[in-house]
Amino acid sequence: EAGALWGGRFAGGPAPELVELSRSTHFDWQLAAYDIAGSRAHARALAQAGYLTDAELTGMIDALDVLDSDVADGTFRPLASDEDVHSALERGLIDRAGVELGGKLRAGRSRNDQIATLVRMLLRDHASRIRHLVTDLIDAIAAQADRHFGAILPGRTHLQHAQPVLLSHHLLAHCWPLVRDLERFVDWDRRANWSPYGSGALAGNTLGLDAQAVAVELGFDRSAWNSIDGTASRDVVAEFAFITAQLGIDLSRFAEEIILWNTKEFGFVTLSDSYSTGSSIMPQKKNPDIAELARGKSGRLIGNLTGLLTTLKGLPLAYNRDLQEDKEPVFDSITTLEVLLPAFTGMVATMTFHTERMADLAPQGFSLATDVAEWLVKQHVSFRDAHEITGALVRFAEENELELDELSDEQYASLSPHLVPAVRSVLTIEGSVASRDGRGGTAPDRVREQLAALTESVRAL
Ligand code: ARG
Repeated sequence: EAGALWGGRFAGGPAPELVELSRSTHFDWQLAAYDIAGSRAHARALAQAGYLTDAELTGMIDALDVLDSDVADGTFRPLASDEDVHSALERGLIDRAGVELGGKLRAGRSRNDQIATLVRMLLRDHASRIRHLVTDLIDAIAAQADRHFGAILPGRTHLQHAQPVLLSHHLLAHCWPLVRDLERFVDWDRRANWSPYGSGALAGNTLGLDAQAVAVELGFDRSAWNSIDGTASRDVVAEFAFITAQLGIDLSRFAEEIILWNTKEFGFVTLSDSYSTGSSIMPQKKNPDIAELARGKSGRLIGNLTGLLTTLKGLPLAYNRDLQEDKEPVFDSITTLEVLLPAFTGMVATMTFHTERMADLAPQGFSLATDVAEWLVKQHVSFRDAHEITGALVRFAEENELELDELSDEQYASLSPHLVPAVRSVLTIEGSVASRDGRGGTAPDRVREQLAALTESVRAL
């Protein structure tokens, strides 16, 4: 086959069905610019080791530069007969540098060490792009927390009214997992930051190439310690896919709340028209599609991770062609997040909160019962008794269709001698929120402090 990277030992060309199955350019073409960068570094290593003269190196780099810009502007594209990005680019190089010079570049490297390096380069670039997008989202959530500082939200457990909290406190609770996702990317990079180039097909190379120089030129701290590991491992790809899946889950949990908050029944938020969609039949509809797509796409991100892990399980060392299946899932996860995150951020930044509605609902469902129990503890009642007394109070209030602060002095006294009228002092939402003033609590001062700590954590990354 014209332009194939192999063929010498074969009697004839590959069957068309094999060509069809084997071709990967429809996804690995994304690696073209990284492949060319790798080729520049490899050419310099070959020259350093005495396999290219100065003039040949110059000719090679010039041809690679031309190829690079032809790839960038679409002048050079893979053909149906190109097996993969590496084959296509060698064809392009030979077109530009001639077969004599162009044919020299492949010495001392294999597609196995190339591909393992190029994927790392691509993932590291996109990790930093995704980190910026996540930081934008954190900023948008924190800005809403700041804008609505002091507003009250009925805090829930089991989706039931539990205790009132500051809306800001709740919003910031969605920021911290995102901060940890940023930290995961930073930590992941310590493991991604080495180059498999120089590993050859699996055993290393015989040409005395300076793999460390190649690594540094490609932005890595070091080259591989083990050429088999360099070509066979993909845990760094799987870990990247995990971080994107976790990020998807973190978005999905917030999305689910936004979907609920946006219903008539909750009425906590209204989404901006520009970040909502309509119905083709129901003229009145305004749907939270961004949140729903976030929730849905988290399934896809998880699927990409599980697909990749399943591919890796049970593969013997070293390279197996199965490893080619690492790219489509992780590329899909990248595209998914790079499209989703800006839309999600826009939705959050433009979301209107109905704080009076939240404040009205906050005391309902006896959400101040814990405050009563803790007030009793401060009067030196044991918590066991306090819980019992407050339970009786809730039951009485429920039966008589009263809120906890609506009982008469006599009614309180009939339930327990400890329930003196002063208990009403803790039966306000603001008092309840302000009293949870330990570190990490919902008291306004602590939440202010938390907002500063969050900003600092993001800045330090
Ligand atoms: N396209 C392959 C991959 O993505 C790299 C090429 C290695 N091919 C081979 N036959 N050794 O992993």
